[in-house]
Amino acid sequence: MQSILVTGGCGFIGANFVRWMLGTDSSLRITNLDKLTYAGNLENLKEIENDPRYRFVRGDIADPAAVDQLIAEGRFHAVVNFAAESHVDRSILDSTPFITTNVMGTQVLLDACRRHRVPRYLQVSTDEVYGSLGDEGFFTEETPLAPNSPYSASKASADMLVRAAVHTFGFPAIITRCSNNYGPYQFPEKLIPLFISNALQGQSLPVYGQGTNVRDWIHVLDHCRGIEAALRQGQAGEVYNFGGESELRNIDLTKRLLKALGKPESLIRYVEDRPGHDQRYAIDCTKAKRELGWTPQYRFEDGLAETIAWYQNHADWIARVRSGAYRDYYESQYGGRLGADKTRA
Ligand code: NAD
Ligand code: TYD
Repeated sequence: MQSILVTGGCGFIGANFVRWMLGTDSSLRITNLDKLTYAGNLENLKEIENDPRYRFVRGDIADPAAVDQLIAEGRFHAVVNFAAESHVDRSILDSTPFITTNVMGTQVLLDACRRHRVPRYLQVSTDEVYGSLGDEGFFTEETPLAPNSPYSASKASADMLVRAAVHTFGFPAIITRCSNNYGPYQFPEKLIPLFISNALQGQSLPVYGQGTNVRDWIHVLDHCRGIEAALRQGQAGEVYNFGGESELRNIDLTKRLLKALGKPESLIRYVEDRPGHDQRYAIDCTKAKRELGWTPQYRFEDGLAETIAWYQNHADWIARVRSGAYRDYYESQYGGRLGADKTRA
């Protein structure tokens, strides 16, 4: 693998993945195709933007002409698709961009990769496609898909399109499904960065319902290592689950965050529950351990402490994201340089 196309590399997991891969493989070249939606932040890759092994292209995975041209010219050894609308609450308010990017964008990528014979494709999916668990049990790769939110339904639809490309055309695709990620550069709309940012400013923490919903938390770098392992060693046509083996009720996580930050529990506000709120996610990652030699390495306590410290030390990053100032960065950094680039919005 010498050259890969990463989509959505300016988002939380994509940016961590680009950094991780460039840090571990000196011979690798990465092109990052990102539309720069509200969740795409070029500052997440600031330190590597002048690395000769890295190239940023602004563009939309749902734009067939732009994607076709990039993949035709790129001669990529693999494509890793992170690009997505990723927040459940936004999908409840408006599902349209979720269908356009997550469903149609995935099909556009699959078609272009097939047309230009890209030898490996990895679809970054989520455990949310499996639906919700009760108190017992775990999702395995055999668990039937039963998505409950517009977000998870769009991700499950994408997974079905990938499956169809494998089955119908022998397309060499792999799907990975991961539990809830945490770590640096996560947009402060998801639970952990939102609650840390709010607590740091003395603002209340909105806990949905009674806070009894359970999520399995995985450090983003454990996820990145899993994607790398699947990319290098995974079997085409297979699905691999990744999880952190760290289940926690939201309210217990919230109290832990407040304690670590030295903030009072009086900041907790119980608010109206999310409609259709999945009760519990938990992952069985036996297959990834057995077939990829992967295992989550972070202890949740350590990963969380490290993550809290990162947000405490990046108050300026949080402030720029929250104020929207991060959007100016594109113009100041790339405005003059990209010139007539067709992929510019
Ligand atoms: P994110 O919202 O932080 O980032 C998404 C990125 O995709 C942004 O940079 C955005 O600009 C880009 N993007 C959006 N629409 C695009 C389009 N049409 N064309 C090109 N780029 C576009 O998301 P994330 O949390 O980093 O998640 C990345 C992937 O991992 C997603 O596919 C998500 O479904 C999946 N996933 C996330 C989690 C999690 O806990 N965050 C868990 C499992 C799987
Ligand atoms: P989130 O980070 O949105 O991830 P997902 O919905 O994909 O699991 O939410 C994690 C859990 O935290 C989920 O059970 C919903 C809950 N939650 C809150 O209680 N309050 C909030 O403000 C948010 C964003 C989430």
